[in-house]
Amino acid sequence: QVALLDIDICGPSIPKMMGLEGEQVHQSGSGWSPVYVEENLGVMSVGFLLSSPDDAVIWRGPKKNGLIKQFLRDVDWGDIDYLIVDTPPGTSDEHLSVVQYLSAAHVDGAVIITTPQEVSLQDVRKEINFCHKVKLPVIGVVENMSGFVCPKCKNESQIFPPTTGGAEKMCQNLNVSLLGKVPLDPQIGKSCDKGQSFLSEAPESPATLSYRNIIQRIQEYCDQHHFQEEKTL
Ligand SMILES: Nc1ncnc2c1ncn2[C@@H]1O[C@H](COP(=O)(O)OP(=O)(O)OP(=O)(O)O)[C@@H](O)[C@H]1O
Ligand SMILES: [Mg+2]
Ligand SMILES: [Zn+2]
Repeated sequence: QVALLDIDICGPSIPKMMGLEGEQVHQSGSGWSPVYVEENLGVMSVGFLLSSPDDAVIWRGPKKNGLIKQFLRDVDWGDIDYLIVDTPPGTSDEHLSVVQYLSAAHVDGAVIITTPQEVSLQDVRKEINFCHKVKLPVIGVVENMSGFVCPKCKNESQIFPPTTGGAEKMCQNLNVSLLGKVPLDPQIGKSCDKGQSFLSEAPESPATLSYRNIIQRIQEYCDQHHFQEEKTL
């Protein structure tokens, strides 16, 4: 049972990617109910509260924090195994408040996404640093858009060259795990635009295999984390 919470208040892309554009949240006696993609996948996003997908949310920190608090407190998620929180890029109000509001819940950790080039790694080092500062464990880093295999000639090219060694080198230097690399695949963009699951659309593709490995490593990390927590209780 998985809950997906989109706290990218100003640029919520989860409703579109999950094929839920135009859906609205319902209010029930037990709070807001999430929008369900499938029986075991509930989603909450500010996108469900806007009247049009092009509406701009222009809010300062405190107002964003208020909504994030509401999402965590007033949504009836039911009995869930995983809560996945998708954040905007950076280390801002959204990141601070979600870590703060969930501190008593013992968050398993953060999964950090980068692309191979230095300009992206530079931001991601800051994000890892942020996690250390707020004592949020780093589950690991994913290198996205890592290589591209031409569908015509099958040659691999580096669209975003790892000029400084890519995520691999960064992870070694910062002593965090590299969870995996996902290649660039135009089908991913298409699936997201259509709100369809890339994993079901292209079950045999290298990117899907890579996603599956990454998911497995995250699950193993979380299992281990829960085991250790139970031991200390
Ligand atoms: N490996 C990939 N191959 C091809 N397209 C991809 C890949 N990864 C992501 N995309 C596409 O790139 C776009 C941006 O992806 P996504 O929204 O996940 O990025 P983001 O970092 O969360 O962006 P934002 O900063 O806006 O939150 C989407 O259209 C997505 O489908
Ligand atoms: Mg995003
Ligand atoms: Zn080619």
